[in-house]
Amino acid sequence: MDISRLTASLPLIAPSLLAADFAHLAQDIRTLEEAGAEILHLDIMDGHFVPNLSFGVPVVEAIRRTTGLLLDVHLMLQNPEPYLSVFRKAGADMLSIHIEVAPDPRSMFDKIRQLGALPGLVSNPPTPVETMLPFVNECDLVLTMGVMAGFGGQLFNPGVLSKIRVIRECTPPETLISVDGGVGETTIADITAAGANMFVTGTALFGKPDVPAQFRHLRQLAAHDYKGNASPLASRRKNR
Ligand code: DX5
Ligand code: ZN
Repeated sequence: MDISRLTASLPLIAPSLLAADFAHLAQDIRTLEEAGAEILHLDIMDGHFVPNLSFGVPVVEAIRRTTGLLLDVHLMLQNPEPYLSVFRKAGADMLSIHIEVAPDPRSMFDKIRQLGALPGLVSNPPTPVETMLPFVNECDLVLTMGVMAGFGGQLFNPGVLSKIRVIRECTPPETLISVDGGVGETTIADITAAGANMFVTGTALFGKPDVPAQFRHLRQLAAHDYKGNASPLASRRKNR
């Protein structure tokens, strides 16, 4: 996958389908396409790494059949490695794994690239940003959770803003810096200021009666203070 397709459209709102109506997913996705969405965030949970279950491969396949939008697949799995090719075959364009289960994620990044997808790295709020830094220039997406992974509708933890700032300083402008959990009208400005360029939104989007209007509103809020997020300290990505 060519990352320039995404970096040309920053900042991005990535709707999290966890908050959509599972009985009418195709309809909700069509609504998002019409509103101008370019990417969908899909949450895969195993009941072990997180104390919740969501949906799995057949649902991702079904979503792939119904849309050409990019699929950003967030793997909340204790053991993600065996599932990388499975979710890629199902239609994932981006596959993100948690640093908490992959202290050295490089071999999985390689595998994700070999499969033709973009690798991402995720951390939960209590996980120090230092654990991610050796790898943030080896992947295309760095995702900071604003809540403990596992459930939608939780309150954003402002303590993660400092993690986002550090990641922004250490990565080149084309790196996708995403935030997931508690992202919405009241938090998006601070998250943009910290340096994020991709905003996963579940409840703040699907919880509104007019989802297309809310999508455009959130995108405007994200774009308002967005300055391209280029950091003078950012080093060019190695080995690319
Ligand atoms: C939580 C998931 C999120 C979730 C976000 O573990 O990773 O993607 O859908 O939901 P909101 O936007 O409601 O916090
Ligand atoms: Zn997620």
